[in-house]
Amino acid sequence: MHVSLILGHPHPGSFNHAIAEAAREVLVSAGHAVDFHDLYAEKFDPILPYEEIPADAQLDPVVEEHCREVAVADGFIFVHPDWWHMPPAILKGWVDRVLRSGVAYAFRPDETGKVSFVTLLKAQRALVFTTSNTPAAMEQDLYGDPLENLWTRCILNYCGVKDVTRTNYSVVVISTHAEREAWLADVRSRVARAFPPDK
Ligand SMILES: Cc1cc2nc3c(=O)[nH]c(=O)nc-3n(C[C@H](O)[C@H](O)[C@H](O)COP(=O)(O)O)c2cc1C
Repeated sequence: MHVSLILGHPHPGSFNHAIAEAAREVLVSAGHAVDFHDLYAEKFDPILPYEEIPADAQLDPVVEEHCREVAVADGFIFVHPDWWHMPPAILKGWVDRVLRSGVAYAFRPDETGKVSFVTLLKAQRALVFTTSNTPAAMEQDLYGDPLENLWTRCILNYCGVKDVTRTNYSVVVISTHAEREAWLADVRSRVARAFPPDK
């Protein structure tokens, strides 16, 4: 199985990096091929230039490689902190540039000449791990948990990934070492269940 693991956090010593590393280790030990991208470390350019928008545009080689990987991925894992109830801009830019028309979805004429929408990603499953400093009930009551809707319906379901599970760990800023260890154990068990070894 090919799994794309995408991390958007600027600090190598962060809890987000620990989550990504725990997920990567489980995937590798299950025998999966992992396309891991630490977007900050790789200095991924999140700015979508106008010329890149048309479906037949000439792509930057880095973006082209990401597009090739997402097209063959059997699963996805995204890891990022909650920044203003959004992913960090570097990851939003990755979505803009990589989950593009012709790669992740397309509009095509149907047999009646009308436009029909098709999803293109072959992956059926995704895990999204986020971290924040807002207690879960407050996030839901005050803001409606925008990241849940964003990743599940607006992005991944839209591109054909049906089975999406997002897990948020909070409150990170006051978390103890023991709590973070328990969260990492939860990450490992979720990844192992979602992506068991191939038969
Ligand atoms: C620019 C920025 C915006 C943030 N916005 C939010 C927010 O809207 N809600 C929240 O709960 N935490 C917010 N935070 C806190 C981060 O989510 C938190 O620091 C992070 O999840 C901790 O994980 P880490 O230790 O891996 O960095 C924000 C932090 C930054 C730097």
